Amino acid sequence: MARGTSSMFRTKTVEQSIQDTEEPEHALKKSLSALDLTVFGVGVVIGTGIFVLTGKVAKQNAGPAVALAFVLAGIVCGLAALCYAEFASTVPVAGSAYTFSYATLGELPAWIIGWDLILELALGCAVVAVGWSGYVRSLLDNAGWHLPAELSGPHGGTFGFDILACALVLLLTVILVAGMKLSSRVTAVVVAVKVTVVLIVIVVGAFLINGDNYSPFIPPAESTSGGSGLAAPLSQLMFGFTPSNFGVMGIFSAAAVVFFAFIGFDIVATAAEETRNPQHDVPRGILGSLAICTALYVGVSVVVTGMEKYSRLSTEAPLADAFKSQGHPFWAGLISFGAAVGLTTVCMILLLGQSRVFFAMSRDGLLPRFFSTVHPRFGTPYRSTVLLGVVVAVVAGFTSIDVLAELVNIGTLFAFVVVALGVIILRRTRPDLPRAFRTPFVPAVPVLSVTASVWLMLNLPAETWLRFAAWMVLGVAVYFAYGRRHSRVGGAR
Ligand code: ALA
Repeated sequence: MARGTSSMFRTKTVEQSIQDTEEPEHALKKSLSALDLTVFGVGVVIGTGIFVLTGKVAKQNAGPAVALAFVLAGIVCGLAALCYAEFASTVPVAGSAYTFSYATLGELPAWIIGWDLILELALGCAVVAVGWSGYVRSLLDNAGWHLPAELSGPHGGTFGFDILACALVLLLTVILVAGMKLSSRVTAVVVAVKVTVVLIVIVVGAFLINGDNYSPFIPPAESTSGGSGLAAPLSQLMFGFTPSNFGVMGIFSAAAVVFFAFIGFDIVATAAEETRNPQHDVPRGILGSLAICTALYVGVSVVVTGMEKYSRLSTEAPLADAFKSQGHPFWAGLISFGAAVGLTTVCMILLLGQSRVFFAMSRDGLLPRFFSTVHPRFGTPYRSTVLLGVVVAVVAGFTSIDVLAELVNIGTLFAFVVVALGVIILRRTRPDLPRAFRTPFVPAVPVLSVTASVWLMLNLPAETWLRFAAWMVLGVAVYFAYGRRHSRVGGAR
């Protein structure tokens, strides 16, 4: 092997990235506008995070201060969004952080990011499908129709296959193969239902608030005795704190978990290649969807922790159950229905993002080129979509949510770190490139973004770090076994 380490850091020029999208065999349709992108953003962002994790985190980590956790997570995402927006408007091609890092940091780092995005997108999609199936089962239960336990997913260590989650992913795969335009129309309707339900929670719930429930707003820290130390946030172990819940540290651990609720705004950047005017529309799509969602989350968490004492919130369907326990079953039913409908788009867009990243990696030769041919009629990357849809459907059928959500978070935060570093590097290496959107205060904002993302990562459990490390080591092995030799930038055809 005559290749030196420099080949691992060979970059794909920005011009080359853009030119690749002009090849007719490998080009996606350019049909989306800024509004479509914002709808996509909101469609994927509001999901399991607000509908499910709010209750769990308020009850176990932060009390009513979960609202502050949402603000913190929102700030971390806002900083990352400013960096994503500059990248997406400079390198408007499919693949999100993967493409950005190929143009800046080099092939190996880009591969690592692409591999890392699988954690965010494919695993995230599986997590949301499982959450969706829980809501649908609860609606079916209300109607007196109970699924057998062995078809309801794994429970408490017992075997089970989640047939609903699996079926949802397969159905969405078919919709995605049939084309962007169809799926964005479906998305728009579903997003409207979801946002309406969230607004109902805020407006109707505001009349049911009891001020006593807010005290204490930040419950005092409680040490978490028992269990393995690996379940404690890495930051608490590193800095020698006794592992604890609640208190100020509890707000940080809560922020690291509710961060899941914001995942997806970066996917707007992934769809850049399919946008009519990416230079103008992508930054608007990203920042717009993030701003809307932050406001809604803070509203929902303030209202729900005011309606019911945090210690009594349910962890499965906290928003609906808070209304039920106040004697409002009609609203509770409506909210459950809206959540079940809303989670559908989250799942779909995560799958869409994943198939596009996979498409870009395959087009570059780091994965087999077979997957980067687009459908002659629908103009969609159907092979990668079908492959990923089937894999995600199986994963969703066999896995439970908790551990996976934390793994999704650490993977996403890692991608944020790389993108922020990439902004700084690209400003130095390619100051000449036109940037429709420029991140303000470079390098201060990217540096802050890196610091904030790393801090949230440190507030995830030590065992999550171990799983993340194992996944990344596997990815590097795959690169050396396949991608390095088949890379188009490296000369392979
Ligand atoms: N942000 C998305 C959710 O909350 C992934 O489900």
